[in-house]
Amino acid sequence: MDGNGRWARQKGLERVEGHKSGVESVRSAVEYAVEKGVKFLSLFAFSEENWKRPESEVFVLMELMVSAIINEIPEFNKNNIRFKVIGDRSRLPAKLQDKISEAERETYNNSVLTVVIFLSYSGKWDIITAAEKYHNYLSSNSGELSAQEKNELFSSFLSTSEIPDPDLLIRTSGEQRISNYMLWQCAYTEFYFTEVLWPDFRKIHFQAALDAYSQRERRFGKTGEQINKTSGSYEK
Ligand code: FPP
Repeated sequence: MDGNGRWARQKGLERVEGHKSGVESVRSAVEYAVEKGVKFLSLFAFSEENWKRPESEVFVLMELMVSAIINEIPEFNKNNIRFKVIGDRSRLPAKLQDKISEAERETYNNSVLTVVIFLSYSGKWDIITAAEKYHNYLSSNSGELSAQEKNELFSSFLSTSEIPDPDLLIRTSGEQRISNYMLWQCAYTEFYFTEVLWPDFRKIHFQAALDAYSQRERRFGKTGEQINKTSGSYEK
């Protein structure tokens, strides 16, 4: 969700005003995901590196998360949406940790869409944490594993073990980097970049990304001929 700061500066406002407006774009993206039948919508709201931002900006962002949870969870429940947070939550303010746990508990059985907020998250942190668990597992279990079993076992130790790998990653504001997002999980993700700043991101922009995605041929390393022969074995 990039471009909040620039959006605010362009309007002669403080950066935090961009984050506040960004909440409206989150609402719109969640609504459109439901409309389009998307099952998982992940939003990278705060990276591990974002802790290095000025204390006042970090404070506003944490407060925004608390108020967004308080305001939106009743709507989530009304619309059968599950709420989930992924990241190193031990670093988050206690009040926010409590609100997150409460919201996750209250929406646990909702099944139309799962909204996953990545907070205090870093792809490298995720991989290191999983590698430690993988190592411990191997130390106390014997037996040969196939390459696929190793992949699946390692994935099960990642913080994203309960959600599928992303099909499409949308990055706003003209930046074309992965910025320590789901590094392992994006192995075969389709990328879509747009110049639109996050506070301006609306359904029409989301639809443009979905249209671009539907034109992609996902080969997962195979040839086009192989894919066509087993038609139906890849999703457009
Ligand atoms: C990146 O733009 C945006 C963020 C670091 C914060 C995103 C958070 C929200 C939109 C707040 C609400 C979130 C939820 C899930 C309710 P930037 O600040 O890096 O902008 P810039 O690149 O223009 O400086």
